[in-house]
Amino acid sequence: MCGIVGAIAERNITPVLVEGLKRLEYRGYDSAGVALLTEQGALDRRRRVGKVSELQAALQAEPLAGRLGIAHTRWATHGAPSERNAHPHFSGQELAVVHNGIIENHEELRERLKGLGYVFTSDTDTETIVHLLEHKLQQLGDLSAALKAAIPELHGAYGLAVISARQPDRLLAARSGSPLVIGLGLGENFLASDQLALRQVTDRFMYLEEGDIAEIRRDGVQVWDAAGNPVQREAVQYHEGAEAADKGEYRHFMLKEIHEQPKVVQRTLEGRLGSDHVLVQAFGPQAAELFAKVKNVQIVACGTSYHAGMVARYWLEELAGIPCQVEVASEFRYRKVVVQPDTLFVSVSQSGETADTLAALRNAKEQAPGQGGYLASLVICNVGTSSLVRESDLCLLTQAGPEIGVASTKAFTTQLVGLMLLTLALGQVHGSLDKALAAELVDELRRLPTRLGEALAMDKTVEKIAELFAEKHHSLFLGRGAQYPVAMEGALKLKEISYIHAEAYPAGELKHGPLALVDADMPVVTVAPNNELLEKLKSNLQEVRARGGELIVFADQQAGMSNGEGTHVVAMPHIHDLLAPILYTVPLQLLSYYVAVLKGTDVDQPRNLAKSVTVE
Ligand code: F6R
Repeated sequence: MCGIVGAIAERNITPVLVEGLKRLEYRGYDSAGVALLTEQGALDRRRRVGKVSELQAALQAEPLAGRLGIAHTRWATHGAPSERNAHPHFSGQELAVVHNGIIENHEELRERLKGLGYVFTSDTDTETIVHLLEHKLQQLGDLSAALKAAIPELHGAYGLAVISARQPDRLLAARSGSPLVIGLGLGENFLASDQLALRQVTDRFMYLEEGDIAEIRRDGVQVWDAAGNPVQREAVQYHEGAEAADKGEYRHFMLKEIHEQPKVVQRTLEGRLGSDHVLVQAFGPQAAELFAKVKNVQIVACGTSYHAGMVARYWLEELAGIPCQVEVASEFRYRKVVVQPDTLFVSVSQSGETADTLAALRNAKEQAPGQGGYLASLVICNVGTSSLVRESDLCLLTQAGPEIGVASTKAFTTQLVGLMLLTLALGQVHGSLDKALAAELVDELRRLPTRLGEALAMDKTVEKIAELFAEKHHSLFLGRGAQYPVAMEGALKLKEISYIHAEAYPAGELKHGPLALVDADMPVVTVAPNNELLEKLKSNLQEVRARGGELIVFADQQAGMSNGEGTHVVAMPHIHDLLAPILYTVPLQLLSYYVAVLKGTDVDQPRNLAKSVTVE
């Protein structure tokens, strides 16, 4: 997804902008650009299709220096990936803009601005912003006043950064539906769509809120809220080491993040477990009171986070006895939903900025409780400063740390931990959860980081299994019960990064259709913990073998399964059945990783995908 970096300083900021863009590469993009106000007082830019390294090469061939500038990585929404569509966009030689998000009324604006004599040089919605601003600047003579006047005419979602050759002492920003953060320095200040881009230059940040406009100067920042009133936004010190954005000894961020899981699961549990129960206050001061009223749960999320929600449905109904529905946010947000009384709305998101999930939360909040609305909203999220966290009543922050690989790994397992904590907390408050079982699960959760470490130690075994996929084009993933969503997640990982077509089915569905696909060219991956569904699963696997299908089975070491002709069994550490979905995810992540490495794909930035999907 698009990324923004901006800077105003007393030094040449080109390296800061380029380094910032490099740090945002993980979000996915197709072109990059930078615009600076040069020492001659003119705006100049370089733009390139492809990676930031192409832009760097262009800057080496034709250097550009300045003390005020903006930069962008673009993920095409309006107009193909091309140099003319890449940001920054100019209006004449006076004004430059970079933009994340979508301007919905861009066609109408384009016609109006053309009528006023503006000449468009791109197919983007963003170019309407820069000409509209120029028009307002002509009328008002001041950049901040021009931006304030233009904003009400822009419909849609945006994070904007603006510079003008006429007013070289300021960098302007506006936020509505797309995050922006100001990085605070000494005698210099910065702007980005994600603080990760700025950790190289500062550890003090100011987060803009919805509707904010900011004027950033070298010696200070002025913010106005949506109503136009001057406001003070708090400056927050960031603590985690900047090294989080490095690959360290690993070849890819994805592998590093898979191996971080014991540590980040441990962190996600810290401070949230009592001796034999979950600390309900971990969800916020009003959690106990609210949880007591919950009669239903509605989970909404996208992609991998949706799979976490699917697992939680099994847990919530089995352990807490609370009816639960799960839906993908892009469907939920446009559907007329019948809300059961006293339903807790739960969103799950790594980034906390996914446009569909955020829109679903906003829709959910529109109706008041008691008038057909939700009781309250809760988010399980990895980014404490994100929009979903700010806009939800309650939150549980996962402690996965920055996830750079586009394919979500450690975010998923920590989400599952968060959702298990929620299940236990609801079960405790309602008295529906057996106390001995709660105590057993709390113990098991404490042991989970060790179990995850044991699963990671199977790295080399899984790498060997991956060779079976090198020449394959299709695969099936099977699971039963709460392992079905784990199979879905395994299939999603494989298709995302190796581009092998993978489908997941509840194993019992096999004979209702997909069995027709099974032959020697279709590897079938199965997760088989030692639970009451194991015997049924074994029969399903017989059905596959009888059709010549090659089986890869990740099975509990006590499940009594062994290697055989066309059957590859990987023995998993024994774990409580209810926590098995967390553990069995790990070998599936490793499998997709090693298949992708064998296929030579771009593991951390797979084609066509973006890390944080902040547009619809
Ligand atoms: C898959 C993946 C995506 C995200 C989805 C939701 O590996 O990363 O499917 O899970 O885009 O993103 P968040 O969790 O940030 O809301």
